[in-house]
Amino acid sequence: MITVIDGPAGSGKSSTARAVADKLKIEYLDSGALYRTATLLYLQAACDEAQFFQLLNKIKVTFSYYDQQFHVKVNDDAVTDQLRTPKVAQNVSHVAAMPRVRAFINDLMREAVANGVYIAEGRDLGTAVFPNADLKFFMKAALEERARRRYKERKPDNPELTLDEVKQNIEQRDHKDSNREADPLQKADDAIEIDTTHLSFEQQVEKICSHISDQIES
Ligand code: CDP
Ligand code: CDP
Repeated sequence: MITVIDGPAGSGKSSTARAVADKLKIEYLDSGALYRTATLLYLQAACDEAQFFQLLNKIKVTFSYYDQQFHVKVNDDAVTDQLRTPKVAQNVSHVAAMPRVRAFINDLMREAVANGVYIAEGRDLGTAVFPNADLKFFMKAALEERARRRYKERKPDNPELTLDEVKQNIEQRDHKDSNREADPLQKADDAIEIDTTHLSFEQQVEKICSHISDQIES
């Protein structure tokens, strides 16, 4: 069984999905972390796109969710702590627009969810990756509110980051993610929309848990 949540940055997808996974004891898949991993590799490789795709085909990416964190390894090396830097955030929408990167990550995800009960979140899961998902949600929230949430989460090792820079990054990524040709950020026709601007975190977790419980019982 798979439940997917799509939506723009800061709408609440990953923290909500993690809380739902913990509550219902199901698996969690963070597709954004996989795009961030590809971006980290792209930046480290400092090569052209063709060489990068060759490199991608030679590496092994594995992931698992435990201790309330989604962990990613590249050839057995943990990369989780390197995925949420401003440098990766600035480049991820560019790398995520590459169709061969998307194909690589989609294969990884489809293979993983074949066994188990999952909640997965991203941008195109309900439309392109898992069009037959059992349940689909689309989360959204006002830009100002999303930027405020992200700013609150900033790392202490980056004290000069401003709220305006966070807002600009979110806005630019949303624009690129929504307008790219390959599997853009989009609400699936059959997705349940949740605007989290004025919801409490607990309310949105409860909403999704109750839909999943109903689905399991039916
Ligand atoms: O956590 P946040 O919403 O800031 O971003 P994320 O979920 O970690 O995703 C980072 C980036 O990966 C997005 O801005 C997209 O460019 C890309 N992404 C995507 O293209 N497709 C997905 N299914 C998930 C993420
Ligand atoms: O995954 P996505 O980028 O959509 O959002 P996130 O990484 O879950 O970040 C959302 C942040 O806003 C988290 O710190 C949440 O605790 C917080 N938040 C929320 O998700 N929903 C609310 N109703 C209020 C706050």
